[in-house]
Amino acid sequence: MASIKTFLFLTLAGVAVAVTTPARWHLRDLQHLPRAHDSGSGSHCTPFAMTFDSSTSASAFKRDFDPLSPPGSYSLDSDGLKLFLDKPDGKIARKGHTNTRVADGATFNSTFTVRYAKVTYALSGPAVPGVVTAAILLAPERDEIDMELLGGDASHWQTNVFAPAPSEDQPLYGAFSSVQNYPHSPKSVASTHSYEIDWSPDRIVWSVDGSQVRTLLKADTMKNGALHYPSHPSRLQFGIWDASDQEGTSEWAHGPIDWDTAPKRMAAVFTSVQVECPY
Ligand SMILES: *[C@@H]1O[C@H](CO)[C@@H](O)[C@H](O)[C@H]1NC(C)=O
Repeated sequence: MASIKTFLFLTLAGVAVAVTTPARWHLRDLQHLPRAHDSGSGSHCTPFAMTFDSSTSASAFKRDFDPLSPPGSYSLDSDGLKLFLDKPDGKIARKGHTNTRVADGATFNSTFTVRYAKVTYALSGPAVPGVVTAAILLAPERDEIDMELLGGDASHWQTNVFAPAPSEDQPLYGAFSSVQNYPHSPKSVASTHSYEIDWSPDRIVWSVDGSQVRTLLKADTMKNGALHYPSHPSRLQFGIWDASDQEGTSEWAHGPIDWDTAPKRMAAVFTSVQVECPY
């Protein structure tokens, strides 16, 4: 099953990566074409806002978001869009930082894409070690801009960028990862905060509750002679996952999940998603 975890941590090989940033004259030639054909360097963004509560229109939700996990793995009610992580059936044994059984969490894709946009997600995640809640921008070319809540480090949150250069078949893992503070109380992943990813052609700015906490300039993504800056139309993807299946990943997430003490059902709760188009 596809999940955020898969995109973040599995080693994918042999995927062709489209060439980015065509020359400006090329973009001019493309301007008369419908947007779906726009593979130039221009922005691609439609303003969008949805609040998740009991008034959310089921048909609008279905039009704009695709669950990548089974219907029982999420619910939409007055508290928000709940993405569940359920204790796996059967006996779970611990091996190093991993568990012999790993829970499947809920994951959603947006049905629309954006290329350069300001995206704001309001959410909370469980403060349970080994559980990761994430709201990301993700392109099939594996450009990825993240914000992640690690239940095992509940007083911080993390930001990440993964973007393979055209000559690479994998992103540089860890090269653009950072741990952020909460400038405003309550300073916990388990409280609802508003997280913003502001992605322009030149830089990415992450904010929480209206305060900027990190800026990554495009120029700063130059590594090994190539830029690693996300530039492909991307879907919004959000989800919750169990990081207990791979040693390194689980260590990063302070895993594995201890199911003797963790609730049998945990939820990340999304209360709104907004897309603004300043670029
Ligand atoms: C979800 O979005 C990602 C990134 O665009 C894409 O690679 C993947 O195929 C999508 N999955 C589904 C089931 O739509």
